Amino acid sequence: MQQNSFAKELTNWYKKSARKLPWREEYEPYKTWLSEIMLQQTQVNTVIDYFNRFIAAYPDIYTLCQAKKEDIFKLWEGLGYYSRAKKILECAKTIVEEYNGVFPKDLNQLKKLPGIGPYTAGAILSIAYNLPAPAVDGNVMRVLSRYQMLDLNIADTKNRSFFEKEVLTLMTDAIPRDFNQALMDLGATICTPKQAKCSACPVKEGCKAFYHNKVEKYPVKLKKNKKRLQKVAVILVKDQDKILIVKRPDSGLMANLWGFPVVEDIHGNAHENIEKFMKDTFGLEVFVQKTEEGPKHVFTHLVWEMQLFKCILQSTRQSTPKVLSEIQWVKTEQLKEYAFPTAFKKIIMNEFDLKSLDL
Ligand code: ADE
Repeated sequence: MQQNSFAKELTNWYKKSARKLPWREEYEPYKTWLSEIMLQQTQVNTVIDYFNRFIAAYPDIYTLCQAKKEDIFKLWEGLGYYSRAKKILECAKTIVEEYNGVFPKDLNQLKKLPGIGPYTAGAILSIAYNLPAPAVDGNVMRVLSRYQMLDLNIADTKNRSFFEKEVLTLMTDAIPRDFNQALMDLGATICTPKQAKCSACPVKEGCKAFYHNKVEKYPVKLKKNKKRLQKVAVILVKDQDKILIVKRPDSGLMANLWGFPVVEDIHGNAHENIEKFMKDTFGLEVFVQKTEEGPKHVFTHLVWEMQLFKCILQSTRQSTPKVLSEIQWVKTEQLKEYAFPTAFKKIIMNEFDLKSLDL
């Protein structure tokens, strides 16, 4: 059967213009999976070095499944969205224990794995196994919305299945691996959100939005809710030349990473509350010496306005805390040995003059 012109023009263009990326050198499900997880919410240029470092440390699923969570977090440091790092270890273990180290070739089985949603499952099937499966992300929805002038809100997850069906129809008789990666490259380099480079587009002849001069009007994306603003007390406790750090719980925001003690949603002058919190939670008697405005950090759904509470340790006698948390007293030059999320790194760089922490 003849390929439709969209698939033909798109894949011909891809053969000439494909971006050279380390995860495209050889197609292995392990590398496809890892790269796709890293590429969620992160730019290709940022991912390249992380991917290379990660593959050097863990060249296959077997080495990864034996890795220590802390070591993975350290390699992930700076990529953000740390729940992804936690899930790759869980996923690697499941693949080794339940699938003999081989990623399944089945969409439903893939989607049940930790951290793998419909997009990543489709990317593994199509890119690694070259099977006809859609891998629909925001880039793909933008390209198709423009090509067909679709008035569907791409921020509404209910509309994803429509785009998936469209991709499957359009990829008929094309090479799935090339087709999906071509769509990704087109969305990233030509059919960009702003100032699309339509004159260089291989499928402009059939593009309805281009024909009607409405490229800027598509895709339809209705605004999501505003991010919640949260005032957060960050407690910096010093004991001579050491500072207190605590490991965050293993679920929720910045799970499993190191940070400073925090109290969320503080109001007004909170000195006494902070001292009581430190005693109840960590069994430590501290004295708040001063408070200062700290940095701001924007998460996916939340903005943290941090206020720093600088304390000294009053007594080394520790009473029994209510909550058992892993804590460490470290010298400032040792801070770089621990995996901190960006929100806390901002504080470390300001307060302790550790310029070497990349943000
Ligand atoms: N963005 C998401 N997945 C990608 C891939 N495999 N190649 C390039 N950009 C991508």
